[in-house]
Amino acid sequence: MINYTEKIPNNVDLGRDRVLQRALEHWQPAYMGWWYDMGPDESHNYEVYLRTATSVEPDGWAQFGYVKMPDYRWGIFLQPRDEKREVNFGIHKGQAAWQEVPGEYRSTLRRVIVTQGDTEPASVEQQRMLGASCPSMYDLRNIFQVNVEEGRHLWAMVYLLHRYFGRDGREEAESLLARRSGDADNPRILGAFNEATPDWLAFYMFTFFTDRDGKFQLCALAESGFDPLARTCRFMLTEEAHHMFVGETGISRIIQRTCEVMKENKVEDPQDVRALGVIDLPTIQRYLNFHYSVTLDLYGSDVSSNAANYYTSGLKGRFRETKLDDDHVLADAEYPVSEVVGGKIITKNVPALTALNERLRDDYIEEIADGVGRWQRVIDNAGIPFRLTLPHKGFHREIGNFAGHFISPDGEVLSEEAWKNHEFEWLPNSKDYAYVQSLMSGRVVEPGKFANWIAPPTRGINNQPLNFEYVRFN
Ligand SMILES: [Fe+2]
Ligand SMILES: [Fe+2]
Repeated sequence: MINYTEKIPNNVDLGRDRVLQRALEHWQPAYMGWWYDMGPDESHNYEVYLRTATSVEPDGWAQFGYVKMPDYRWGIFLQPRDEKREVNFGIHKGQAAWQEVPGEYRSTLRRVIVTQGDTEPASVEQQRMLGASCPSMYDLRNIFQVNVEEGRHLWAMVYLLHRYFGRDGREEAESLLARRSGDADNPRILGAFNEATPDWLAFYMFTFFTDRDGKFQLCALAESGFDPLARTCRFMLTEEAHHMFVGETGISRIIQRTCEVMKENKVEDPQDVRALGVIDLPTIQRYLNFHYSVTLDLYGSDVSSNAANYYTSGLKGRFRETKLDDDHVLADAEYPVSEVVGGKIITKNVPALTALNERLRDDYIEEIADGVGRWQRVIDNAGIPFRLTLPHKGFHREIGNFAGHFISPDGEVLSEEAWKNHEFEWLPNSKDYAYVQSLMSGRVVEPGKFANWIAPPTRGINNQPLNFEYVRFN
């Protein structure tokens, strides 16, 4: 169980390590300062119906109740240790899992943790203005839940930095509070986390696509031979599931509402659909294309010696590593990657170790495709002849083998000019953003009411009714 009587709730027996406890208690006010500055705008007095972890066991971990977000009990929760756990892949396979950082991997591991940690506050920053345009109290509560949990994920990474990386770790923990999403001088580390999340369509896309990148990265780190990292990530994954739920159902509800309005009014032309105050399906497709492609870049280069090193040294595994049926060393294995040669996309086999980014990206794409298939069913069930598609994985990429090439959503290699002629049929254009934002000029917060452009969810949070007062504004 988690000890909530301490200043910093935890299940790592923090009180036993006074130096560490003091260091984290020193970081805590800096974190609160960041939350007050960069957390959800104007939200500090709201009482929000939030879940708080009470135990790290999969079945009994959530308690629901009204919390003012600055009073949320952010803390440090790791899955319990499995004394028999081993390093399950790479050259150290079969050794006991490391409880301390191996000296030779110290800086690599620190970089991995900092890169993951940096995404957590970044998304809170990206989403901080969205409360002012929420489509319902239910959705407002959900974004706040996501935000406080991303804050806790930052705590999770900061704990590792403080506990295992000494002074360097403490400095990195401070830098995590100093960078800002989108800032010209001190941006967040990864590209997608410096993009704006300007509206709720973008927010749901972000939580569907980009939080799912988070899931896959956490899954890979949950396999780490460095046991405290693995245990931290396992608990973070239980929280991440809710974020992706918010995204998938959010988009699904938007599609459902659009389809209802199209059917009722017998319209198909996007302009006619917009005139009825809902989001036309081609605009949803363009947002999808954008968020999918910028998220694919987060996996890094298709062929990467860093990825090989992370794996070989036992720091970062594959998706579901221990469930895979092979030697977990991959010295002789191959994996296909694509590249553009002479105006054509070709696929060739490369050493599997160097292709681990690509492999994780492919695992991700598979899961994404399932989700998009579920959205498609909403359209199909309405009897509307529109297909949502995932663009080719080379579309609109800035990292890896496709960077610098102009690939259409169908996977055709184009000239720059040909690409530019179609760019804003494929990606959201300024009119799309303006239209979507025009729908979201104010917030809908009467209990049980939903904005015209989105259908209500099928059920409320924690079995509460849809007209439950999920947020008290005071
Ligand atoms: Fe997170
Ligand atoms: Fe998340």
